[in-house]
Amino acid sequence: MEVVASIVSVAVVKTGEALCSTIKNIAKSPQQLHVLEMEKKSLTALRDETAIEIERATQEGMAIKDRATGWLKDVDELLRKMNDQIQEAKSSRCFLSCSTKRCRISRDVAEQLKEVKRLLEVGSSIASSVAHSYPEVKAVEHIPGPSIQDQTASVSEDLAKIMTLLSDDKKGIIGIWGMGGVGKTNLVRNLNNKLQKNSNLRFSCVLWVTVSKNLDIKMVQTRIASRLGLKLEESSGPDGMAIQLHRRLEKERFLLILDDVWEKIDLDKLGVPRPENHSGSKIILTSRSLDVCRYIQTDFNVPMSVLGDKDAWQLFSQYATDVVNLEHITPLAEAICKECEGLPLAIITMGAAMRGKTNPEVWKHALNQLHRSVPYAAGVEEKLYKRLKWSYDSLEGKDLKTCFLYCSLFPEDFSINIDELVWYWLAEGLIDEREDYEVFYSRGISLIENLKDACLLEDGSDKGTVKMHDVVRDVSIWIASTCSEDGSKSLIRTEKGLKEISATELSNSLKRVSFIDNDLEKLPDDSVIRCSEASTFLLQNNPRLELIPEIFLERFKALRVLNFSRTSIKSLPDSLLQLDDLRALLLSNCEDLEGLPPLERLSRLQVFDLSWTGIRELPKGLEQLSNLRHLNLAGTSKLEVVKAGVIPKLSRLEVLDLSNSCYIWKVKGAFQEEEACFEELQCLERLQVLSIRLKWNPCYTLQDTITFWINGLKAFEINVGPSGYSLSGRDLCLLSDAQRCIMTMEGIDLSGGQIGWLLSNASYLRLLSCGGLNDMLQDMVINSVCRSFTYLKKLKIKYSYCSFQTRGPAARYDLLPNLEQLSLSGIKGVESISELANLLGLRFQRLRTLNVFACWQMKYLLSLGNSIRTMPNLEVIEVQHCPNLEELFNYLPLQINMAGLDPITPKLQKLYLRKLPKLRNLCRDEKTWPGNKVKVEVIDCDLLSTDQQ
Ligand SMILES: *[C@@H]1O[C@H](CO)[C@@H](O)[C@H](O)[C@H]1NC(C)=O
Ligand SMILES: *[C@@H]1O[C@H](CO)[C@@H](O)[C@H](O)[C@H]1NC(C)=O
Ligand SMILES: *[C@@H]1O[C@H](CO)[C@@H](O)[C@H](O)[C@H]1NC(C)=O
Repeated sequence: MEVVASIVSVAVVKTGEALCSTIKNIAKSPQQLHVLEMEKKSLTALRDETAIEIERATQEGMAIKDRATGWLKDVDELLRKMNDQIQEAKSSRCFLSCSTKRCRISRDVAEQLKEVKRLLEVGSSIASSVAHSYPEVKAVEHIPGPSIQDQTASVSEDLAKIMTLLSDDKKGIIGIWGMGGVGKTNLVRNLNNKLQKNSNLRFSCVLWVTVSKNLDIKMVQTRIASRLGLKLEESSGPDGMAIQLHRRLEKERFLLILDDVWEKIDLDKLGVPRPENHSGSKIILTSRSLDVCRYIQTDFNVPMSVLGDKDAWQLFSQYATDVVNLEHITPLAEAICKECEGLPLAIITMGAAMRGKTNPEVWKHALNQLHRSVPYAAGVEEKLYKRLKWSYDSLEGKDLKTCFLYCSLFPEDFSINIDELVWYWLAEGLIDEREDYEVFYSRGISLIENLKDACLLEDGSDKGTVKMHDVVRDVSIWIASTCSEDGSKSLIRTEKGLKEISATELSNSLKRVSFIDNDLEKLPDDSVIRCSEASTFLLQNNPRLELIPEIFLERFKALRVLNFSRTSIKSLPDSLLQLDDLRALLLSNCEDLEGLPPLERLSRLQVFDLSWTGIRELPKGLEQLSNLRHLNLAGTSKLEVVKAGVIPKLSRLEVLDLSNSCYIWKVKGAFQEEEACFEELQCLERLQVLSIRLKWNPCYTLQDTITFWINGLKAFEINVGPSGYSLSGRDLCLLSDAQRCIMTMEGIDLSGGQIGWLLSNASYLRLLSCGGLNDMLQDMVINSVCRSFTYLKKLKIKYSYCSFQTRGPAARYDLLPNLEQLSLSGIKGVESISELANLLGLRFQRLRTLNVFACWQMKYLLSLGNSIRTMPNLEVIEVQHCPNLEELFNYLPLQINMAGLDPITPKLQKLYLRKLPKLRNLCRDEKTWPGNKVKVEVIDCDLLSTDQQ
């Protein structure tokens, strides 16, 4: 409470010199001053709380209420006024002798008290709900896929045509129709992605929904709603949900893209306002059938025809590469291209299959094969089917073919997680199981790449996933269920709303069975079932399935992969133990699951997924599963006990995932003997990926052996602290090498603790809401004699009070020489990053990203001088919500001459400044800024003069 405190102290000192009636007035009511002081304290606290709430909400993509930002602004304004006064008071000598001023100050105290009280009152209702209940809607989301540049001229023409239609007010609903594989999805995807780059978009949001074969109104509604951040009340039933959606959509000027519509959709039932009554909005749908377009009453239909000869050849040569220009190949290539009859999907897959083949015999053979008649799948055009079947036939090797067919077990338009897929291929024996994680994983990736090169798989909607084009999947299912290479068959019944499995369908010739995404309520307990050959049985996402009959599993003795994830089973029958060949048992998200029979007989088990289940302890006999390689216990919120000696016996374990589990590992000696300890994990010599929570013990320094062991891991996240969200093992592996070793400390007091041992190989350190940071860093400086943390690339410090001021010695050399990303958020007490830099000797020579958020006391980012003159690799600077920031960079007093010599950030690409009310300068010397290649975004920085912006 600087203002009041200083007024009082000035008053006390000066009273002896010049008695001032005003001051007496103030002094007479120390009560009032005291009240003001208390209230201001509460206000500051509430302000900080609200600012943190706003930050959290912003990060979650919520739209912040104007009320909240307005309030914050008012509070800051008031606090600033109070602070200014003290400045004024300090600088003005005639403070007490000037009577008008005296009066003003006295009046101000009373007024300020009133204002503080008002803001407190308003604020208390704001702090708890700073954001609107739905997040800020992103106008367009990118849909991955090949871009238009590598497509033919006719696609660009079609795209231009649709763009024109979009600006035609009379065309509310546009239908795009044509046979499967002609490129409808590709067209609208490119449209979507083009709109994303459009700077003056005429829609407030572009919504993309892949509808697919089995129309699921609720899914479509949910997809649209979640895109708009709207939570549909399922209890209000389909009509209620439609009304809710309707109400929300009416507020938008939307473009709804419904891709791959097979059935007639009733827009009213869906809750989508018809564009006619809602000017500006539009709907585009793609379908294989003109009838569907007619039913939905499109205002305009665009038929998509096959490619003309020239375009077809261009596309074909693009995929088959230059070989098509070889004299002896050209005629054959032209003939094959012609066989594709202008269907882009056929051309692309054929072209890819012939890529780089220089032997004319291979081309001749291909042509002959294409002429041969093959039985084809209903629902796929014969011509397309033939070409795709041919692409399949030309995949090299039986295993690659089987891998391809395996992908069709998953539902239509489903993005399959690559990491999971590789484990299943391993479990199925498609990849050599003797290989180590790293080796077999890259083998899996190369199989996937082969399939992608053949254009039979494409990138999925999320990073690390793949999916199948729906036509390709149709063909794949057809092949899998009739004529696969090894004569085995698959039964694929996904998303059909089935309540039962008919026992007669489960015949002995089946190799793989998939009933994913149905409504199964029970499984047949019929002795008719004979499925003694089946190796994979996928039953996930049948939320009503509660019971597995004892006899059922007995019929599937050869199973290698069994998936009961997302069902309501409570236990598994003892017949599970007869599955001698079982390699992967997947029970994730079976929230009701509490127990399992003793597992020791499943000695071949390699992948065991119990994530997000209700288990309280590890299943009996787990320690005997000596072949177990992947144990997933993520999100086990009831797991209380892990007995000593169990995990170390799993000597082949390569992935141990306990992310977000409630189980916390403890270091030796901190608990009862029979419980497992952190140290025993080091017996896992083959472990590559680890995600666990660890109990903090400040006095503990781990033995070198375990540090060494941790350092050998490929990816880890160790989360120290009472709470905290951590990445799953799978997500960890998706990170780049440099970010895979994560240490998170959350909500603990670090003072007196030593974390050097934990840090030695960490590439990413997160310190969230930790106390005692200064002490810890100081310790680090003292103890890191001649040793720097060379692996640390990313440092994030959040919600802490610290000053980084050096009390003891500061590092004499850079302790974090390879730091690439620095993020400070919600730190109180720091005026400049220089404080941290001085303490740890940082030079920022490799720093690429600098992110500062809500650091209240921060006045400038960095002071340039001897140790840091430039940051040669800095590419991105983001500074937000720093109410006191005046300047980004300044120079140490004696270094001012240095300004203008070198650009401070020669590689800067992006500068993002938001809510910096006091920022006046980027840097005193403009010349030190790089040229105009920087993308600059400035929001709410009122004092920054426009010529700088
Ligand atoms: C559109 O408006 C007309 C008349 O204004 C009305 O008859 C019709 O039902 C409306 N259609 C929809 C889908 O709301
Ligand atoms: C098992 O089911 C889960 C939950 O749906 C899914 O994430 C996983 O990919 C499935 N695995 C297989 C082999 O189907
Ligand atoms: C971890 O650090 C040690 C030296 O302390 C080094 O030899 C090893 O390669 C590092 N491991 C990783 C994964 O970076």
